[in-house]
Amino acid sequence: MIYNKKDFEGLKKVGKVAAETLDFITDYVVAGISTYDLDKLIAEYTKKQGGICAPLNYCGYPKHCCISVNDVICHGIPNKNEYLNDGDIVNIDVTTIIDGYYGDTSRMFLIGNVSDKAKELVDITYDSMMKAISICRPGLPLSEIGKTIQTMCEAKGFSVVRDFCGHGTGTVFHDAPNVLHYYEAINDKIILQEGMVFTIEPMINTGSYEMYIESNDWTARTIDGGLSAQFEHTIGITSNGVEVFTKSPNNMTKPPYKK
Ligand code: MF3
Ligand code: CO
Ligand code: CO
Repeated sequence: MIYNKKDFEGLKKVGKVAAETLDFITDYVVAGISTYDLDKLIAEYTKKQGGICAPLNYCGYPKHCCISVNDVICHGIPNKNEYLNDGDIVNIDVTTIIDGYYGDTSRMFLIGNVSDKAKELVDITYDSMMKAISICRPGLPLSEIGKTIQTMCEAKGFSVVRDFCGHGTGTVFHDAPNVLHYYEAINDKIILQEGMVFTIEPMINTGSYEMYIESNDWTARTIDGGLSAQFEHTIGITSNGVEVFTKSPNNMTKPPYKK
């Protein structure tokens, strides 16, 4: 799908609201809160901004966002009995719909005293996503995104998840192309062009990249119990570069966050 100027305006608007939702939730992401309460706050905030939470009822998904703690790679389902603890690393992934446009973004949050290894994981996950975004422009092979992320993360001894990828988006949640976060020759032939809209959302593990799906049919965990981190932005290819639709208006990029 190729999107035009007017579409980019709509995507900028919804992307800003999605980013502001993560800015808003930041103060609440502390030890002792339940992931259920975080989901409720996100649902209320989104409604107040005139948005719709895309995850709710998407392929039967039961909540408004995904909250993935420690060894959960993605699609953690908010739960009344799940409380955040000191030392946890947490991904919150929100997708907002406004005027038919999707804004899909996620960030990591550090709860209290987090290990140096976990901080290093979170740091390189963010930095590799941003480096990959920075090289995007018309003419670039899509495979350069995965190559960039894989090179940076494996240099630190971490692994890149294979089973989930970034995706085309815009007026649908998930569309072609598959934006792999590791190098695969199949993406050499897909060339970025002006008007493309997609996410980059690397999931990076301290141990093996292998995963399993919980009995709830959604939640993906590392097979070895190692930690997993993820960030996500929705971006659009412009005539000479890239626009990040889901940038925080308050410059909340990677932890520690200050408003
Ligand atoms: N937001 C996720 C993504 O980045 C998708 C979540 S689908 C859901 O693509 F159903 F689990 F919400
Ligand atoms: Co996404
Ligand atoms: Co997402």
